[in-house]
Amino acid sequence: MSIRLDVVQHQRHKFWNANIHYHFLVLASLPADATRVLDVGCGDGILAAELADAGIPHVVGLDVDQPVLHRARARHAGKAVEWMQGNVLDVAFESESFDAVVSVASLHHMDAAEALACFARLTRPGGTVAIVGLAANAWSDLPLAAVGLILRQVLGVVRGQWNHSAPTCWPPPLTYGEMKALSARVLPDVRYERHWLGRYSLIWRKPL
Ligand SMILES: C[S@@+](CC[C@H](N)C(=O)[O-])C[C@H]1O[C@@H](n2cnc3c(N)ncnc32)[C@H](O)[C@@H]1O
Repeated sequence: MSIRLDVVQHQRHKFWNANIHYHFLVLASLPADATRVLDVGCGDGILAAELADAGIPHVVGLDVDQPVLHRARARHAGKAVEWMQGNVLDVAFESESFDAVVSVASLHHMDAAEALACFARLTRPGGTVAIVGLAANAWSDLPLAAVGLILRQVLGVVRGQWNHSAPTCWPPPLTYGEMKALSARVLPDVRYERHWLGRYSLIWRKPL
């Protein structure tokens, strides 16, 4: 089975925001033979639905917030997603039971060290942890933050900003620098990238 990224690309025009903008990084990081993927903090379920549309047979959309999960289920009725309510740190998933654990704009809601260790535990050897996240700005981050703010405003107008309805947490507890250092400690050899629209990404392949 191969992952149908082209199907998802065609739907990209429907919703746009700075988080959705980076879904392609998550989708592109999946193992080619992925069949079980966990989306942590799925919110309105846009990414979970994209994963299902891309042909992943078993997608779990997990969120601790029941109302947003309810909206996700209704919005994506008919999609092959198992919607599940729970705190990822408490849910009794079997270790190494997912080909990929993904999470967008949600890691800053949790204790990042604990959550990254949990995502790594749930991922099978050779599988992927893929995260798009938000972080706080240190003074040295402010010029890039200003550019990001302007780009988000412009793209929001050009692409048509879609606002999610999930719970938010602001400000994020860790700065970009702290997140980079912490992720390297918990996920050795993780690929950390800072992006223009005020997001970072973490892509980690679990060693075989
Ligand atoms: C800002 S929203 C992002 C939602 C979605 N991923 C998106 O990109 O629009 C963060 C989500 O993480 C969920 N969340 C926070 N802590 C969680 C936890 N420990 N386990 C599962 N979900 C959690 C919140 O309920 C919220 O829906």
